[in-house]
Amino acid sequence: MIYDRRPDSMERITTPELADAFIEEQLAALREQIGDKKVLLALSGGVDSSVVAAMLIKAVGQQLVCVHVNHGLLIKGETEQVIEVFRNQMNANLIYVDATDRFLDKLAGVSDPEQKRHIIGEEFIDVFAEEARKLDGVEFLAQGTIWPDILESEAGIKAHHNAGGLPEDIASRFELVEPVKILFKDEVRLVGKQLGLPDGMVYRQPFPGPGLGVRCPGAITRDRLAAVRESDAILREEFAKNGLEGKVWQYFTVVPDFKSTGVKNGKRTFDWPCIIRAINTTDVMEVSVEHLPDALIDHIVSRILAEVPGINRVLYDFTPKPPATVEYE
Ligand code: XMP
Repeated sequence: MIYDRRPDSMERITTPELADAFIEEQLAALREQIGDKKVLLALSGGVDSSVVAAMLIKAVGQQLVCVHVNHGLLIKGETEQVIEVFRNQMNANLIYVDATDRFLDKLAGVSDPEQKRHIIGEEFIDVFAEEARKLDGVEFLAQGTIWPDILESEAGIKAHHNAGGLPEDIASRFELVEPVKILFKDEVRLVGKQLGLPDGMVYRQPFPGPGLGVRCPGAITRDRLAAVRESDAILREEFAKNGLEGKVWQYFTVVPDFKSTGVKNGKRTFDWPCIIRAINTTDVMEVSVEHLPDALIDHIVSRILAEVPGINRVLYDFTPKPPATVEYE
């Protein structure tokens, strides 16, 4: 059965066997709820929507329609991974929308952080709603809501939008399907693993909805965004190679909107700095800084300077939260 709330008596899903039992129960419930109708899902590639997609593919196969919107602010290789895993390996019915130009054009010249977030959120809904309007016969909308979302929303900490803030003409057409709604994050990961999703997807670090947009402070330009994406990819690669993936809670790079003087091959440069942030936390309210071995820092610094155009300086952020937040915007 599909529960509306997590039952007080529910055992924490801590083993593959418990995850398998949950999956079996949910698959039967989903098949009963959806019948032979179609179900729509915005598939970002994050843990929650990926697990929901994998579950629905098992439950109803081609009746699931996934829409993956690339807003141009995703990390390197993310869209390719979504397409590879879901379309090629799991044979999902996947609509891919490359909305990069649309988002970056709307964001051009906008430097206020809240306005940037607002534009990204609104534009996402517009793109998704346009795709939804093109589809006939879809009666269900799947969402990767998890139990902490509901608790936070009830406590007034974070708004949890039913139907993701979609316009009324779209939202009213759908019945919601939320198959991981009663799970905590660690349980969602275990369920995802049992459903056959790759570790890189199941154990990925948190990634904000506005994506690299909040790591490109100020008005986003394509060249500075490329510097964020490339430096982030180098950092991830080095963390993975050095056994830090999955051990450090979150790590990323930021390329702020100012330049400083440097020198390369005897010539003056005037380029951006790249800031490395690596943090640990249990509750995200308080965050401590991960200290990396000197040799690893030196190696990452030299790679970023050699491989990322537009960077002539690398800085390490040693600030805990509070007073700093994790992200820069
Ligand atoms: P802050 O910057 O508030 O970040 O200390 C705490 C955690 O939340 C993530 N984060 C977001 N996640 N949408 C998200 O889904 C957002 O708009 C957003 N902003 C911050 C951040 O990456 C960190 O893990």
